[in-house]
Amino acid sequence: MFQPSKKIVYEKSKLSGTTTWQSPSNIALIKYWGKRDLQIPINPSLSFTLSKCNTQTTISYKPSSDGFKYEFYFEDQPKPEFKKKLDIFFQRIISYLPFLNQISIKINSTNTFPHSSGIASSASAFSALSLCLTDIEKSILCSSDFLKKSSFISRLGSGSACRSVYGPASIWGKSSLVKESKDDYAVPFDLPNFFKNYNDTILIVDEKSKSVSSTVGHDLVKNHQFKNSRVKQANKNLDKLIKSILNKDIGEFIKVVENEALTLHAMMLSSNPSFILLKPNTINIINKIWSFRNKNNTTLCFTLDAGANIHLLYHQTDFETVQNFIKDELLIFCSNGKYIDDKIGYGGIKK
Ligand code: PMV
Repeated sequence: MFQPSKKIVYEKSKLSGTTTWQSPSNIALIKYWGKRDLQIPINPSLSFTLSKCNTQTTISYKPSSDGFKYEFYFEDQPKPEFKKKLDIFFQRIISYLPFLNQISIKINSTNTFPHSSGIASSASAFSALSLCLTDIEKSILCSSDFLKKSSFISRLGSGSACRSVYGPASIWGKSSLVKESKDDYAVPFDLPNFFKNYNDTILIVDEKSKSVSSTVGHDLVKNHQFKNSRVKQANKNLDKLIKSILNKDIGEFIKVVENEALTLHAMMLSSNPSFILLKPNTINIINKIWSFRNKNNTTLCFTLDAGANIHLLYHQTDFETVQNFIKDELLIFCSNGKYIDDKIGYGGIKK
């Protein structure tokens, strides 16, 4: 849908300004794991958008006579370790945002969630950056399809980032079940009110950054022995999950969400070479959740992303019961007793 455009010369007066966007992280319930071509997912994914784990990014821009230039600061400090990722991102997007050839930009980002807590920040970071870039395009060109284009640009930075521009939930990847779904960008998925009142408490099991990056993990799916079965399973699980959400079938919702989380890690365990991102305390917490659920009739279930930390998903009516359970039985498995209480949110916001 979005095609690379030719170089056009824009009026210099329009080529300076500043814009700030805040964008959240998201948690996938149906997991994106494995890609083809340029960041095209091998299966559709569905995520809940979060509200407290955000990146806030400001871009100031001015005309440049010798092509596109950028400087990047994280919390006002230069971050040379992000240069490689950002260089790749800008190479990928420049033909879709050709006005970039005529400006130099200064990017400053901050995160609202603790740095090095083991929480992946690429979804919030690339979606906040892409919302700023698409906003600059909008102010120069009065272009339309703002959110779709922001999602499209975000995808080229980090696949899962394309789902963060919307809330309360998003679907990315073509699925016959969702007519408007696309591989190139995510589309919003409206939740019934019941699910808009869901919490996501993130238990920090490991504060270190993960030993195997998701880029390497996605690559290992290319020749994975279970790749075709996984694609089939993800499509089936998406069908089941959507039905369980629409029918408010919590038992089925829990089954699918936990099956997806464990399958993601089963794919890692069975890739070649295999790798393990789960930690002993991740398993301890899962066992505690299962025995808690046998004794208590609550909405609590867990999911995992590509790491050792656990996301606890539960409805607001269970808040007190689950918070007591966390404090009494789970915090001993968390690194320095750390956790973050988040909830469903509504995507990027202009500041
Ligand atoms: O967006 P990436 O390349 O960091 O991959 C994210 C993969 C998972 O978080 C494991 C699943 C997902 O759909 O977000």
